[in-house]
Amino acid sequence: MSIIIITILLAYLIGSIPSGLIIGKVFYKTDIREHGSKNLGGTNTFRTLGVKAGLIVTIMDILKGTLATKLPDILDADIHLLIAGVVAVIGHMYPIFAGFRGGKAVATSGGILLAYEPLLFLLLVLAFFLSLYLTKYVSLSSMIVAVIALVYTLITDITDIPLLIVLTVLAVFIFYRHRANIKRIIDKTEPKIKWL
Ligand code: G3P
Repeated sequence: MSIIIITILLAYLIGSIPSGLIIGKVFYKTDIREHGSKNLGGTNTFRTLGVKAGLIVTIMDILKGTLATKLPDILDADIHLLIAGVVAVIGHMYPIFAGFRGGKAVATSGGILLAYEPLLFLLLVLAFFLSLYLTKYVSLSSMIVAVIALVYTLITDITDIPLLIVLTVLAVFIFYRHRANIKRIIDKTEPKIKWL
């Protein structure tokens, strides 16, 4: 098997690690997909299992994207770093280890940027919390940040075409995976956070 195929497979498997399911089941005997928004992600872990579990799952989900993005370098595979990152996000959304019912692409996408453009990642974290402070919606803030990432890169580094393409793809993933949230925001039934 060629090293490129191995890299893509490994990136998918890394993305497929169901952090929320592992932490929930092992430490809390809880499948977070049966609670809250039923999403297998950091936000629903915060909501269902509390701050500690939520933080751990969010960090694990971010690191999946970071590790996958570094994989081509680690394995010396002739494939663009961002492709491996996007494959991990696909694994995160449709994990082979969790019946293909995964998360909404946000944290793992962030992990790609942490590996590829750490400064942009930091800026987006700040933008996320500012948006969260103003709107009180995690889902809306996630989508706003996906748009900010794209617009910011268009303005500051229009020459990085692979990054622009990937940010567009990730924004499409994020909006698509948040379609139930979008409907709830319109219906005014989306839960708001109370702690900020
Ligand atoms: O990253 C997912 C977040 O934007 C929304 O999660 O559980 O509120 O649907 P949730």
